[in-house]
Amino acid sequence: MQEKIIILDFGSQTTQLIGRRVREMDTYCEIVPYNKFPKGDPTVKGVILSGSPFSVYDENAFKVDLNEIRGKYPILGICYGAQFLSYSNGGKVEPAGTREYGRAHLASFCKDNVLFKGVKENSQVWMSHGDTITAIPSNFKTIASTDKVAIAAYQIENEQVWGVQFHPEVFHSEDGTQMLKNFVVDVCGCKQDWSPASFIESTVAELKAQLGDDKVVLALSGGVDSSVAAVLLNRAIGKNLTCVFVDHGLLRKNEFKNVMKDYECLGLNVIGVDASEKFFSELAGVTEPEAKRKIIGSGFIDVFDVEAHKIKDVKWLAQGTIYPDIIESLSITGTVIKSHHNVGGLPEKMHLKLCEPLRLLFKDEVRRVGRELGMPEHLITRHPFPGPGLAVRILGDITPEKVQILQNADDIFIQGLRDWGLYDQVWQAGVILLPVQSVGVMGDERTYERAVALRAVTSTDAMTADWAHLPYEFLGKVSNDIINKVKGVNRVTYDISSKPPATIEWE
Ligand code: XMP
Repeated sequence: MQEKIIILDFGSQTTQLIGRRVREMDTYCEIVPYNKFPKGDPTVKGVILSGSPFSVYDENAFKVDLNEIRGKYPILGICYGAQFLSYSNGGKVEPAGTREYGRAHLASFCKDNVLFKGVKENSQVWMSHGDTITAIPSNFKTIASTDKVAIAAYQIENEQVWGVQFHPEVFHSEDGTQMLKNFVVDVCGCKQDWSPASFIESTVAELKAQLGDDKVVLALSGGVDSSVAAVLLNRAIGKNLTCVFVDHGLLRKNEFKNVMKDYECLGLNVIGVDASEKFFSELAGVTEPEAKRKIIGSGFIDVFDVEAHKIKDVKWLAQGTIYPDIIESLSITGTVIKSHHNVGGLPEKMHLKLCEPLRLLFKDEVRRVGRELGMPEHLITRHPFPGPGLAVRILGDITPEKVQILQNADDIFIQGLRDWGLYDQVWQAGVILLPVQSVGVMGDERTYERAVALRAVTSTDAMTADWAHLPYEFLGKVSNDIINKVKGVNRVTYDISSKPPATIEWE
């Protein structure tokens, strides 16, 4: 059985980051809401308590009886987690005189404490809290201080319980990963044996047991998540998996044909459906971004439903949902950060059981699993692409002619990124067709044609993004090529907005 660390989520923005750090140590972990500890699970090796947007003395603060886990598992409380542990045992937590944000240094710490093994003198840590622990219970022992924070870390005497007021999970805590590793490996005794190969082996076995001889249908999008989910399921149940790839006519140039070929090479049982006419007719004259998304989302469900019902006795709907989607939908603070659910209504409409084999993986882990499954690199490193496709990159109404112009311009940009070795340096890129025309001159002719914007961003999770600082020579070449080769475009601009306050897509 796969051993794991449980991270109790008290709502901090960095909870996911704790999860990532633990996974990076090849140790499996799960993030669960603060009050949903999996009692009686013999695979749990230790517990980490996350930070929180609340103060321990807030009326609405997330509180839970930790005596259920204390003494049974090693515990590491981070920020609020540390404050809550201390406060609920009689310690004092008060608003800090000055809010403690940013860099601090461990001015002193117990070098022989296992948590600080390999941590250097004066190591930089990252603070982010408005409260501070001003007194700890008598059986708690201070094990680290910074210049400003006397009780930066503590341990409960004779117990495997620690609290740190700083955030070891963030990049700016220099030895943070080392401290987390000390907890996970030295204290909890995790074997660091979680790998893409072990994930594939256990998931294929679970899928076989869960699905038996049942038939499963899966919607492919060309993206990495649904593709990896399909290959994994194919390994588990072979021909009982049917994949459906719907072309809504708003994919990149030749994307449908190329991706279908890839899928066939991977041995997947795929039905490709060209539904572009349906989508073009339903979208005709629609300019409002949300209306476009709704039409595409529900049109997709209709087409998929018809195809799925052609398969006899299908019992399961598989989806390439990944961990960040799940964590967001479980979000205990109710803050919706992103809501790009293209086919949210699909499972309800189809009355099928849901199978989500990647639901516990982060995006980079999905890629590692894809590689381990032997999938081609271009499928794995493919940039994200929005479900509604080019519809949200054509400002204003959509016509087949505009789609073609955009596909041609986009193809030059993306191929250029590949040729110049820049493709893998950007998170995602594309061209936007603007609803303006401007005057230009070509040869001796006056032109009055469309303008496009190039968009390329760097990011790690699409929640925030910066515009990519692409070389001027490259931008100049792409601009020339687009204007010379794409009929109907006479002006190219480059979008230099970051997210926030802009978004990656324009609609
Ligand atoms: P924004 O524009 O919100 O985009 O900064 C963040 C990321 O999400 C992608 N995106 C979508 N993906 N369906 C999707 O599957 C959608 O409706 C959708 N809208 C945006 C976008 O391409 C970027 O990667």
